[in-house]
Amino acid sequence: MKPFVIALDGPAAAGKGTLAKRLAAHYGFAHLDTGALYRAVGLAVLRAGGDPTDPQAATRAAETLDPASLADPELRSAAAGDASSKVAAIPGVRRALFEFQQRFAAHPPTGSGSVLDGRDIGTVICPEAPVKIFVTASAEARAGRRLKELQARGEAAIYARVLEDIRARDARDAARADAPMKPAEDAVHLDTSDLDIDQVFDRAKAIVDRAIADSKRS
Ligand code: CDP
Ligand code: CDP
Repeated sequence: MKPFVIALDGPAAAGKGTLAKRLAAHYGFAHLDTGALYRAVGLAVLRAGGDPTDPQAATRAAETLDPASLADPELRSAAAGDASSKVAAIPGVRRALFEFQQRFAAHPPTGSGSVLDGRDIGTVICPEAPVKIFVTASAEARAGRRLKELQARGEAAIYARVLEDIRARDARDAARADAPMKPAEDAVHLDTSDLDIDQVFDRAKAIVDRAIADSKRS
């Protein structure tokens, strides 16, 4: 049987990663945070003293990405977040990361399925996924959540700046020509602005359970 795929897409700090981990634990599926790949490429370019908008430097960093860098705590910094959406607009970078993501979904390292979260999972990486959820929340709710995370990391962040960064990143992600952030036509929309993590999980679980039952019937 083909491995089951749950595709979660949506803008920054909408709650995709948190939901992906909960779903993966619940169903015993493998989880891939695809944003970490772009963050790692962005960070590698910054550390080499390069410009994340430079196609050559960014494509080389993506082609030579060290898997160990995916565990670097600096991936969650505001600087890596900003650089990530700059390198993500470069087609060579997306090409270099494409195969790894598809292979993960086709051959999950653990369990009988996988949860991938990102921006183009339902549209480009796994267009055949039986579950696609587009996770959203207001920019204000997302900025509030991201501010707390940055402060917990010890970064001197202020709300207005975090909101501005989130809006800039959303605009860049939605406007790029190659694999822009957008809901797949068959994605279920889940607005988490006024939901806590348990409520989001319960709604997503109902969607996944239904799709699993459907896949067993067909
Ligand atoms: O955690 P957050 O939602 O802030 O971002 P992320 O998921 O870590 O993704 C960082 C950046 O990587 C995004 O702003 C996108 O530009 C890019 N990305 C992408 O282009 N395609 C994906 N499948 C995942 C992330
Ligand atoms: O992966 P993405 O950037 O979409 O978001 P995340 O990392 O899952 O969530 C960003 C922050 O929002 C985390 O600190 C979550 O604990 C928090 N969150 C929340 O407060 N309420 C939710 N319903 C979902 C996430």
